[in-house]
Amino acid sequence: MPKTVVVGVSGGIAAYKTAYLVSALVKKGYDVHVIMTKNALEFISALTFETISGNAAITDTFQRSEEHDVKHVSLAKRADMFIVAPATANILSKIAGGIADDMLTTTLLAARCPIVFTPAMNTAMYENQATQESIRILKKRGCYVMDTGIGALACRDEGAGRMKEPEEILEYAQSVFESLFDMNGVKVLVSAGPTVEDIDPVRFISNRSSGKMGYAIATAAVARGADVTLVSGPVALEAVAKAEMVSVRSAKQMHESVTKFAAGSDVVIMCAAVADYTPNEVSSQKLKKGQDKSIELVRTIDILKELGRGKKSGQVLVGFAAETNNHENSAKEKLKNKNLDIIALNDVGKHDEGFGSDYNNIKLLYKDGSGKDLGIKTKQELAKDIIDCIFEYRKTIAR
Ligand code: PMT
Repeated sequence: MPKTVVVGVSGGIAAYKTAYLVSALVKKGYDVHVIMTKNALEFISALTFETISGNAAITDTFQRSEEHDVKHVSLAKRADMFIVAPATANILSKIAGGIADDMLTTTLLAARCPIVFTPAMNTAMYENQATQESIRILKKRGCYVMDTGIGALACRDEGAGRMKEPEEILEYAQSVFESLFDMNGVKVLVSAGPTVEDIDPVRFISNRSSGKMGYAIATAAVARGADVTLVSGPVALEAVAKAEMVSVRSAKQMHESVTKFAAGSDVVIMCAAVADYTPNEVSSQKLKKGQDKSIELVRTIDILKELGRGKKSGQVLVGFAAETNNHENSAKEKLKNKNLDIIALNDVGKHDEGFGSDYNNIKLLYKDGSGKDLGIKTKQELAKDIIDCIFEYRKTIAR
Protein backbone atom coordinates (compact mmCIF):
# COMPACT_ATOMS: atom_id res chain seq x y z
CA MET A 1 0.00 0.00 0.00
CA PRO A 2 1.60 3.36 -0.94
CA LYS A 3 2.22 5.71 1.95
CA THR A 4 0.15 8.89 1.99
CA VAL A 5 1.92 12.23 2.18
CA VAL A 6 -0.14 15.38 2.64
CA VAL A 7 1.64 18.51 1.43
CA GLY A 8 0.39 21.79 2.89
CA VAL A 9 1.15 24.86 0.82
CA SER A 10 0.92 28.25 2.46
CA GLY A 11 1.31 31.63 0.77
CA GLY A 12 4.89 32.38 -0.20
CA ILE A 13 6.88 32.76 -3.39
CA ALA A 14 8.65 29.48 -2.58
CA ALA A 15 5.35 27.70 -3.40
CA TYR A 16 6.61 27.16 -6.95
CA LYS A 17 9.38 24.92 -5.53
CA THR A 18 6.69 22.80 -3.85
CA ALA A 19 5.51 21.69 -7.28
CA TYR A 20 8.94 20.06 -7.76
CA LEU A 21 8.72 18.53 -4.30
CA VAL A 22 5.28 17.04 -5.06
CA SER A 23 6.59 15.68 -8.35
CA ALA A 24 9.59 14.09 -6.60
CA LEU A 25 7.33 12.53 -3.93
CA VAL A 26 5.02 11.09 -6.61
CA LYS A 27 8.04 9.64 -8.43
CA LYS A 28 9.11 7.94 -5.18
CA GLY A 29 5.71 6.19 -5.10
CA TYR A 30 3.92 8.23 -2.43
CA ASP A 31 0.22 9.00 -2.71
CA VAL A 32 0.37 12.79 -2.46
CA HIS A 33 -2.52 15.07 -1.49
CA VAL A 34 -2.11 18.83 -1.54
CA ILE A 35 -3.91 21.32 0.67
CA MET A 36 -3.47 25.01 -0.20
CA THR A 37 -4.25 28.10 1.80
CA LYS A 38 -6.10 30.96 0.13
CA ASN A 39 -2.86 32.95 -0.03
CA ALA A 40 -1.01 30.05 -1.65
CA LEU A 41 -3.44 30.31 -4.57
CA GLU A 42 -2.06 33.79 -5.28
CA PHE A 43 1.35 32.22 -6.03
CA ILE A 44 0.53 28.93 -7.76
CA SER A 45 -2.60 27.31 -9.11
CA ALA A 46 -4.40 24.31 -7.68
CA LEU A 47 -4.41 22.82 -11.18
CA THR A 48 -0.60 22.59 -11.15
CA PHE A 49 -0.70 20.42 -8.02
CA GLU A 50 -3.68 18.40 -9.25
CA THR A 51 -1.89 17.59 -12.49
CA ILE A 52 1.33 16.59 -10.75
CA SER A 53 -0.17 14.67 -7.83
CA GLY A 54 -3.09 13.08 -9.67
CA ASN A 55 -5.33 14.03 -6.73
CA ALA A 56 -7.68 16.98 -6.25
CA ALA A 57 -5.94 19.87 -4.48
CA ILE A 58 -7.99 21.05 -1.53
CA THR A 59 -8.24 24.75 -1.13
CA ASP A 60 -10.61 25.58 1.71
CA THR A 61 -12.85 24.06 4.34
CA PHE A 62 -16.03 25.12 2.60
CA GLN A 63 -15.20 23.66 -0.78
CA ARG A 64 -18.37 22.07 -2.14
CA SER A 65 -17.06 18.58 -2.72
CA GLU A 66 -19.12 15.58 -1.76
CA GLU A 67 -16.83 14.83 1.17
CA HIS A 68 -16.01 18.40 2.17
CA ASP A 69 -17.32 18.34 5.73
CA VAL A 70 -15.11 15.49 6.88
CA LYS A 71 -12.21 15.93 4.48
CA HIS A 72 -9.86 17.48 7.03
CA VAL A 73 -10.43 14.58 9.40
CA SER A 74 -10.24 11.87 6.75
CA LEU A 75 -7.00 13.24 5.25
CA ALA A 76 -5.51 13.73 8.71
CA LYS A 77 -6.29 10.08 9.48
CA ARG A 78 -4.90 8.81 6.20
CA ALA A 79 -1.68 10.82 6.28
CA ASP A 80 1.52 8.93 7.03
CA MET A 81 3.42 12.20 6.87
CA PHE A 82 2.59 15.89 6.56
CA ILE A 83 4.98 18.32 4.91
CA VAL A 84 4.23 22.04 5.05
CA ALA A 85 6.16 23.75 2.26
CA PRO A 86 6.47 26.64 2.30
CA ALA A 87 5.70 27.15 5.96
CA THR A 88 5.17 30.88 6.44
CA ALA A 89 5.63 32.70 9.75
CA ASN A 90 1.84 32.88 9.87
CA ILE A 91 1.27 29.13 9.56
CA LEU A 92 4.03 28.27 12.04
CA SER A 93 2.58 30.58 14.67
CA LYS A 94 -1.00 29.52 13.99
CA ILE A 95 -0.20 25.85 14.55
CA ALA A 96 1.97 26.62 17.58
CA GLY A 97 -1.00 28.55 18.98
CA GLY A 98 -3.55 25.85 18.06
CA ILE A 99 -5.43 28.03 15.59
CA ALA A 100 -7.53 26.14 13.04
CA ASP A 101 -9.35 28.50 10.70
CA ASP A 102 -8.97 26.95 7.27
CA MET A 103 -8.54 23.56 5.61
CA LEU A 104 -4.78 23.40 6.07
CA THR A 105 -4.71 24.38 9.73
CA THR A 106 -7.69 22.19 10.67
CA THR A 107 -6.10 19.19 8.98
CA LEU A 108 -2.74 19.91 10.62
CA LEU A 109 -4.33 20.08 14.06
CA ALA A 110 -6.18 16.81 13.47
CA ALA A 111 -3.07 15.01 12.17
CA ARG A 112 -1.34 12.41 14.32
CA CYS A 113 1.40 11.59 11.83
CA PRO A 114 4.88 13.17 11.77
CA ILE A 115 4.78 16.78 10.54
CA VAL A 116 7.68 18.43 8.71
CA PHE A 117 7.66 22.23 8.42
CA THR A 118 9.94 23.87 5.87
CA PRO A 119 9.98 27.58 6.78
CA ALA A 120 10.25 30.23 4.09
CA MET A 121 10.09 33.95 4.79
CA ASN A 122 11.97 37.22 4.98
CA THR A 123 15.05 37.14 7.27
CA ALA A 124 13.65 39.62 9.78
CA MET A 125 10.41 37.66 10.02
CA TYR A 126 12.35 34.43 10.47
CA GLU A 127 14.53 35.92 13.19
CA ASN A 128 11.60 37.55 14.96
CA GLN A 129 11.19 36.21 18.48
CA ALA A 130 7.57 35.25 17.80
CA THR A 131 8.57 33.02 14.87
CA GLN A 132 11.52 31.52 16.74
CA GLU A 133 9.31 30.84 19.76
CA SER A 134 6.71 29.14 17.51
CA ILE A 135 9.45 26.94 16.01
CA ARG A 136 10.65 26.01 19.51
CA ILE A 137 7.09 25.10 20.54
CA LEU A 138 6.53 22.98 17.44
CA LYS A 139 9.83 21.13 17.90
CA LYS A 140 9.04 20.53 21.57
CA ARG A 141 5.77 18.94 20.50
CA GLY A 142 7.62 16.54 18.24
CA CYS A 143 7.23 18.32 14.90
CA TYR A 144 10.18 18.45 12.53
CA VAL A 145 11.17 21.97 11.52
CA MET A 146 13.86 22.23 8.87
CA ASP A 147 16.41 25.01 8.91
CA THR A 148 16.20 27.55 6.16
CA GLY A 149 18.77 28.19 3.46
CA ILE A 150 20.79 31.42 3.45
CA GLY A 151 20.90 33.51 0.31
CA ALA A 152 19.02 35.94 -1.89
CA LEU A 153 15.35 36.29 -0.96
CA ALA A 154 12.40 37.33 -3.09
CA CYS A 155 12.23 40.64 -1.20
CA ARG A 156 15.79 41.41 -2.49
CA ASP A 157 17.23 40.88 1.02
CA GLU A 158 20.11 38.47 1.67
CA GLY A 159 20.05 36.14 4.66
CA ALA A 160 18.27 33.27 6.37
CA GLY A 161 14.70 32.45 5.36
CA ARG A 162 15.03 30.74 1.98
CA MET A 163 13.04 27.52 1.78
CA LYS A 164 15.27 24.48 1.35
CA GLU A 165 15.44 23.00 -2.14
CA PRO A 166 12.92 20.26 -3.05
CA GLU A 167 15.66 17.57 -3.15
CA GLU A 168 16.80 18.53 0.36
CA ILE A 169 13.23 18.45 1.66
CA LEU A 170 12.65 15.05 0.07
CA GLU A 171 15.87 13.67 1.57
CA TYR A 172 14.98 15.07 4.99
CA ALA A 173 11.42 13.71 4.85
CA GLN A 174 12.68 10.30 3.80
CA SER A 175 15.19 10.20 6.65
CA VAL A 176 12.34 11.02 9.07
CA PHE A 177 10.29 8.28 7.42
CA GLU A 178 13.07 5.73 7.71
CA SER A 179 13.85 6.53 11.34
CA LEU A 180 10.19 6.34 12.39
CA PHE A 181 8.92 3.70 10.00
CA ASP A 182 11.65 1.11 10.24
CA MET A 183 9.11 -1.62 9.40
CA ASN A 184 8.18 0.07 6.13
CA GLY A 185 7.12 -2.57 3.62
CA VAL A 186 7.02 -5.40 6.19
CA LYS A 187 3.73 -7.29 5.88
CA VAL A 188 2.28 -8.09 9.29
CA LEU A 189 -0.82 -10.19 9.93
CA VAL A 190 -2.42 -9.89 13.37
CA SER A 191 -5.44 -11.77 14.64
CA ALA A 192 -7.42 -10.44 17.57
CA GLY A 193 -10.53 -10.90 19.64
CA PRO A 194 -12.64 -13.95 20.31
CA THR A 195 -14.39 -16.26 17.90
CA VAL A 196 -18.09 -16.88 18.31
CA GLU A 197 -19.43 -20.38 17.73
CA ASP A 198 -23.17 -20.35 17.17
CA ILE A 199 -25.40 -22.95 18.78
CA ASP A 200 -28.67 -21.55 17.47
CA PRO A 201 -29.90 -18.06 16.43
CA VAL A 202 -29.84 -17.00 20.09
CA ARG A 203 -26.97 -18.78 21.82
CA PHE A 204 -23.29 -19.17 21.19
CA ILE A 205 -20.02 -20.32 22.74
CA SER A 206 -17.28 -17.71 23.03
CA ASN A 207 -14.61 -16.43 25.42
CA ARG A 208 -13.62 -13.29 27.28
CA SER A 209 -11.26 -11.73 24.72
CA SER A 210 -11.96 -8.02 24.17
CA GLY A 211 -9.48 -7.65 21.29
CA LYS A 212 -7.53 -4.93 23.14
CA MET A 213 -4.19 -6.77 23.07
CA GLY A 214 -4.38 -7.64 19.37
CA TYR A 215 -5.59 -4.17 18.36
CA ALA A 216 -2.74 -2.59 20.34
CA ILE A 217 -0.26 -4.84 18.51
CA ALA A 218 -1.71 -3.93 15.12
CA THR A 219 -1.56 -0.22 16.05
CA ALA A 220 2.08 -0.53 17.18
CA ALA A 221 3.03 -2.24 13.90
CA VAL A 222 1.22 0.44 11.84
CA ALA A 223 3.11 3.13 13.78
CA ARG A 224 6.38 1.55 12.63
CA GLY A 225 5.27 1.68 8.99
CA ALA A 226 4.31 -1.98 8.53
CA ASP A 227 1.52 -3.00 6.15
CA VAL A 228 -0.87 -4.49 8.65
CA THR A 229 -3.85 -6.78 8.13
CA LEU A 230 -5.96 -7.27 11.23
CA VAL A 231 -8.30 -10.25 11.26
CA SER A 232 -10.69 -9.65 14.09
CA GLY A 233 -13.44 -11.57 15.81
CA PRO A 234 -16.45 -9.60 17.09
CA VAL A 235 -15.22 -6.82 19.41
CA ALA A 236 -16.41 -3.40 20.51
CA LEU A 237 -13.28 -1.52 19.41
CA GLU A 238 -12.68 1.12 16.75
CA ALA A 239 -10.94 -0.07 13.59
CA VAL A 240 -7.18 0.43 13.57
CA ALA A 241 -6.44 3.34 11.24
CA LYS A 242 -4.33 2.39 8.22
CA ALA A 243 -4.67 -1.35 8.84
CA GLU A 244 -6.62 -3.55 6.48
CA MET A 245 -9.51 -4.73 8.64
CA VAL A 246 -11.07 -8.16 8.13
CA SER A 247 -14.05 -9.08 10.31
CA VAL A 248 -14.81 -12.69 11.10
CA ARG A 249 -17.09 -14.46 13.54
CA SER A 250 -16.37 -18.16 13.86
CA ALA A 251 -13.15 -20.16 14.16
CA LYS A 252 -13.86 -21.47 10.65
CA GLN A 253 -13.99 -17.92 9.23
CA MET A 254 -10.89 -16.96 11.23
CA HIS A 255 -9.13 -19.98 9.74
CA GLU A 256 -10.12 -19.01 6.18
CA SER A 257 -9.03 -15.37 6.49
CA VAL A 258 -5.82 -15.99 8.43
CA THR A 259 -4.74 -18.70 5.99
CA LYS A 260 -5.44 -16.42 3.02
CA PHE A 261 -3.37 -13.51 4.36
CA ALA A 262 -0.63 -15.52 6.08
CA ALA A 263 0.71 -16.71 2.73
CA GLY A 264 1.93 -13.21 1.84
CA SER A 265 2.93 -12.09 5.35
CA ASP A 266 6.43 -11.66 6.74
CA VAL A 267 5.19 -11.73 10.34
CA VAL A 268 2.08 -13.48 11.69
CA ILE A 269 0.92 -12.74 15.23
CA MET A 270 -1.96 -14.92 16.44
CA CYS A 271 -3.37 -13.01 19.37
CA ALA A 272 -6.98 -14.10 18.80
CA ALA A 273 -8.60 -16.36 21.34
CA VAL A 274 -9.86 -18.94 18.88
CA ALA A 275 -12.45 -21.35 20.24
CA ASP A 276 -11.08 -24.87 20.51
CA TYR A 277 -14.53 -26.41 20.11
CA THR A 278 -17.61 -25.60 18.06
CA PRO A 279 -21.07 -27.19 18.00
CA ASN A 280 -21.24 -30.05 15.53
CA GLU A 281 -24.52 -28.64 14.21
CA VAL A 282 -25.97 -25.15 14.27
CA SER A 283 -29.70 -25.18 14.79
CA SER A 284 -31.58 -22.82 12.49
CA GLN A 285 -34.32 -22.50 15.14
CA LYS A 286 -33.97 -21.55 18.78
CA LEU A 287 -33.54 -24.75 20.76
CA LYS A 288 -36.39 -25.29 23.19
CA LYS A 289 -35.87 -26.21 26.82
CA GLY A 290 -35.35 -29.93 27.07
CA GLN A 291 -33.99 -30.07 23.51
CA ASP A 292 -30.68 -28.55 24.54
CA LYS A 293 -29.56 -30.91 27.27
CA SER A 294 -26.37 -31.83 25.50
CA ILE A 295 -24.65 -30.18 22.59
CA GLU A 296 -22.14 -32.19 20.65
CA LEU A 297 -18.94 -30.28 20.21
CA VAL A 298 -16.21 -30.90 17.68
CA ARG A 299 -12.63 -29.61 17.62
CA THR A 300 -11.89 -26.55 15.52
CA ILE A 301 -8.80 -26.46 13.32
CA ASP A 302 -5.70 -25.34 15.18
CA ILE A 303 -4.90 -22.43 12.85
CA LEU A 304 -1.51 -21.68 14.33
CA LYS A 305 -0.40 -25.29 14.20
CA GLU A 306 -1.37 -25.43 10.54
CA LEU A 307 0.56 -22.18 9.87
CA GLY A 308 3.55 -23.66 11.71
CA ARG A 309 3.49 -26.69 9.44
CA GLY A 310 3.48 -24.59 6.29
CA LYS A 311 5.75 -21.81 7.54
CA LYS A 312 7.74 -20.29 4.68
CA SER A 313 11.40 -19.48 5.10
CA GLY A 314 12.06 -16.12 6.75
CA GLN A 315 8.50 -15.83 8.05
CA VAL A 316 8.19 -15.06 11.76
CA LEU A 317 5.36 -16.88 13.50
CA VAL A 318 4.26 -15.59 16.88
CA GLY A 319 1.63 -17.22 19.08
CA PHE A 320 0.06 -16.34 22.37
CA ALA A 321 -0.41 -18.70 25.27
CA ALA A 322 -3.29 -17.87 27.58
CA GLU A 323 -2.61 -19.89 30.71
CA THR A 324 -4.06 -20.14 34.20
CA ASN A 325 -1.65 -22.74 35.58
CA ASN A 326 1.61 -24.51 34.77
CA HIS A 327 2.24 -21.43 32.67
CA GLU A 328 5.75 -21.75 31.34
CA ASN A 329 5.69 -25.47 30.60
CA SER A 330 2.39 -25.24 28.72
CA ALA A 331 3.63 -22.25 26.71
CA LYS A 332 6.89 -24.03 25.84
CA GLU A 333 4.93 -27.03 24.64
CA LYS A 334 2.80 -24.81 22.36
CA LEU A 335 5.94 -23.07 21.07
CA LYS A 336 7.41 -26.42 20.04
CA ASN A 337 4.23 -28.18 18.87
CA LYS A 338 3.15 -25.31 16.67
CA ASN A 339 6.64 -24.65 15.26
CA LEU A 340 6.63 -21.02 16.45
CA ASP A 341 9.48 -18.54 16.60
CA ILE A 342 8.13 -16.76 19.65
CA ILE A 343 5.26 -17.30 22.08
CA ALA A 344 3.85 -14.55 24.30
CA LEU A 345 2.85 -16.12 27.59
CA ASN A 346 0.16 -14.33 29.57
CA ASP A 347 -1.60 -15.33 32.76
CA VAL A 348 -5.35 -15.10 32.22
CA GLY A 349 -6.25 -16.34 35.66
CA LYS A 350 -6.19 -12.87 37.23
CA HIS A 351 -9.02 -10.33 37.06
CA ASP A 352 -6.85 -7.23 36.57
CA GLU A 353 -4.69 -8.59 33.73
CA GLY A 354 -5.20 -10.53 30.50
CA PHE A 355 -8.76 -10.86 29.17
CA GLY A 356 -10.63 -7.57 28.89
CA SER A 357 -8.24 -5.59 31.11
CA ASP A 358 -6.20 -2.60 29.90
CA TYR A 359 -3.15 -4.33 31.42
CA ASN A 360 -1.35 -7.54 30.73
CA ASN A 361 1.68 -9.40 32.03
CA ILE A 362 3.75 -10.93 29.26
CA LYS A 363 6.80 -13.10 29.02
CA LEU A 364 8.18 -13.86 25.58
CA LEU A 365 9.66 -17.31 25.04
CA TYR A 366 11.87 -17.84 22.01
CA LYS A 367 12.41 -21.07 20.11
CA ASP A 368 16.11 -21.15 21.07
CA GLY A 369 15.03 -21.54 24.71
CA SER A 370 15.68 -17.96 25.77
CA GLY A 371 13.03 -15.73 27.33
CA LYS A 372 12.28 -12.07 27.95
CA ASP A 373 10.02 -10.87 30.73
CA LEU A 374 8.18 -7.75 29.58
CA GLY A 375 6.40 -7.37 32.92
CA ILE A 376 3.03 -5.83 33.78
CA LYS A 377 2.20 -2.84 31.62
CA THR A 378 -0.67 -1.37 29.64
CA LYS A 379 -1.48 -3.33 26.52
CA GLN A 380 -0.30 -0.37 24.40
CA GLU A 381 3.11 -0.37 26.11
CA LEU A 382 3.41 -4.14 25.85
CA ALA A 383 2.38 -4.05 22.18
CA LYS A 384 5.27 -1.66 21.40
CA ASP A 385 7.70 -3.92 23.29
CA ILE A 386 6.39 -7.03 21.51
CA ILE A 387 6.76 -5.38 18.10
CA ASP A 388 10.28 -4.24 19.07
CA CYS A 389 11.26 -7.78 20.05
CA ILE A 390 9.75 -9.34 16.93
CA PHE A 391 11.53 -6.82 14.74
CA GLU A 392 14.86 -7.48 16.49
CA TYR A 393 14.32 -11.23 16.16
CA ARG A 394 13.54 -10.81 12.46
CA LYS A 395 16.89 -9.09 11.96
CA THR A 396 18.71 -12.01 13.59
CA ILE A 397 17.12 -14.62 11.31
CA ALA A 398 17.79 -12.48 8.22
CA ARG A 399 21.55 -12.50 8.93
O1 PMT B 1 -8.35 -9.65 23.83
P1 PMT B 1 -7.92 -9.19 25.20
O2 PMT B 1 -9.08 -9.02 26.15
O3 PMT B 1 -7.03 -7.97 25.15
O4 PMT B 1 -7.05 -10.37 25.84
C1 PMT B 1 -5.84 -10.74 25.25
C2 PMT B 1 -5.67 -12.27 25.22
C3 PMT B 1 -5.59 -12.79 26.64
C4 PMT B 1 -6.83 -12.93 24.48
C5 PMT B 1 -4.35 -12.54 24.42
O5 PMT B 1 -3.28 -11.91 25.07
C6 PMT B 1 -4.08 -14.04 24.27
O6 PMT B 1 -3.51 -14.71 25.12
N1 PMT B 1 -4.51 -14.60 23.12
C7 PMT B 1 -4.42 -16.06 22.81
C8 PMT B 1 -5.55 -16.77 23.51
C9 PMT B 1 -5.52 -18.26 23.22
O7 PMT B 1 -6.36 -18.73 22.49
O8 PMT B 1 -4.50 -18.93 23.74
P2 PMT B 1 -4.32 -20.54 23.64
O9 PMT B 1 -3.25 -20.83 24.60
O10 PMT B 1 -5.62 -21.22 23.79
O11 PMT B 1 -3.85 -20.75 22.15
C10 PMT B 1 -2.48 -20.77 21.77
C11 PMT B 1 -2.30 -20.13 20.41
O12 PMT B 1 -2.94 -20.90 19.41
C12 PMT B 1 -2.86 -18.72 20.30
O13 PMT B 1 -1.96 -17.95 19.57
C13 PMT B 1 -4.16 -18.92 19.52
O14 PMT B 1 -4.46 -17.78 18.72
C14 PMT B 1 -3.83 -20.12 18.65
N2 PMT B 1 -5.00 -20.98 18.32
C15 PMT B 1 -5.74 -21.55 19.29
C16 PMT B 1 -6.80 -22.37 18.95
C17 PMT B 1 -7.08 -22.59 17.59
N3 PMT B 1 -8.11 -23.36 17.22
N4 PMT B 1 -6.33 -22.03 16.65
C18 PMT B 1 -5.29 -21.23 16.99
O15 PMT B 1 -4.59 -20.71 16.10
